[in-house]
Amino acid sequence: MRLKIIGSAAGGGFPQWNCNFRLSRAARAGEQGFAPRTQSSLAASADGSGWVLFNASPDIRQQIAQTPELQPAPDAPLRSTPIRAVVLTNADVDHVAGLLSLREREPFAIYATRRVLEVIAANSIFNVLDPKIVPRRLLPPDETVIIRDARNRDTGLSVESFSVPGKIALYLEDASRPAADFGSEAGDTIGVRVSAANGGKAAYYVPGCADINERLRIRLDGAACLLFDGTVFTDDEMLTAGVGQKTGRRMGHLAMWGENGSVAELSRLKIGRRVFVHINNTNPVLDDTSPERAALRTAGWEVAHDGMEIVL
Ligand code: MLT
Ligand code: MN
Repeated sequence: MRLKIIGSAAGGGFPQWNCNFRLSRAARAGEQGFAPRTQSSLAASADGSGWVLFNASPDIRQQIAQTPELQPAPDAPLRSTPIRAVVLTNADVDHVAGLLSLREREPFAIYATRRVLEVIAANSIFNVLDPKIVPRRLLPPDETVIIRDARNRDTGLSVESFSVPGKIALYLEDASRPAADFGSEAGDTIGVRVSAANGGKAAYYVPGCADINERLRIRLDGAACLLFDGTVFTDDEMLTAGVGQKTGRRMGHLAMWGENGSVAELSRLKIGRRVFVHINNTNPVLDDTSPERAALRTAGWEVAHDGMEIVL
C-alpha cells in the first residue's frame, strides 16, 4: 500500500492567508526550513493506479496539480480521475470543502459516518455532487468496510473507522451547551485503520483527536504506522502566539507536548512509524531547526510534509 500525505497542515494551511505570525512570515518569505504546507489530506492506493482520498481539503486543486498520481492518466478518457473515493474523518471545513472542487459529473464515492453524512445532506451546496453520480455511503463504527468506487468496484483498500474523542465542526457548535462539548457526539470525529487486500501492513490515520484514552491506546498498540493529530505543540500555543483565544483542547486537538500530550501518552506503545499530520501554523515544529522539532525527533516522531510518501 502506498500512502501520500498530500496536505500536512491544519485548517488555514501554512502560511495561512491572514497570518502574520513569525512562522507564516518565514514560510511566505521562502526561508529555508519553513516548508509551506497545504491543508489536511491523505491519499492511499493499493495498486498505484486507483486512489482513495482521506478528507478533501480546500487546497485539493493544488494538491492534485502537485501529485501526478491523482491526475488523469495520458491514455484515460477525456474526462477521468484516478480518485475512486473520498473518506471523511469529520465535517470540518478543512476536510470537506474540497468536495466542491470535485464537481464536473465525475463518478467517485463518498464515505463518512452517519453524523457527517447528515451534515453533507443538510448543506445543499454539496448537491453539486449529484448523489446519483457520487454516491454517499455509510461508514458504520468499528466495522471493516471495503472501499468501492462509484460503480461498486473494489479499490483494494479497506477501512475500519472508530470514534475518537473529538469535536463537532466549528460551524455546528451549539454555543448554549459548552459543558456538552458544544453538542459533539460520537461519530463527529473518527480515526481510520487503512489496509490493502494485496498485503502489506495497515496504517492508522487520526488527523483530529482531543484525548487519548485507554481504548485508543489499546487500538493503536502494535500499529506499523500512525499518522496522528499534530495541530499544536502546546495547548495554549495560539494564546501565547497572540493569534487567538482558543486552546488546542477547545478546538478538539490534543497537544503534542507536556505531561498528557500525545508524545507522552503514546510513548509506551509499540508503533513502527509515528508521524504528525494536521500541523497548525502556530506550531513551532514547522521550523525544521527548532528545539521542539529536535525534541520530537528524539522522541521518535516525524513531522509530515506535503508529498511525503510511506510504503507499507
Ligand atoms: C479543526 O481542525 O479544528 C478545524 O479545521 C478548525 C476549523 O474548521 O477552522
Ligand atoms: Mn482541521
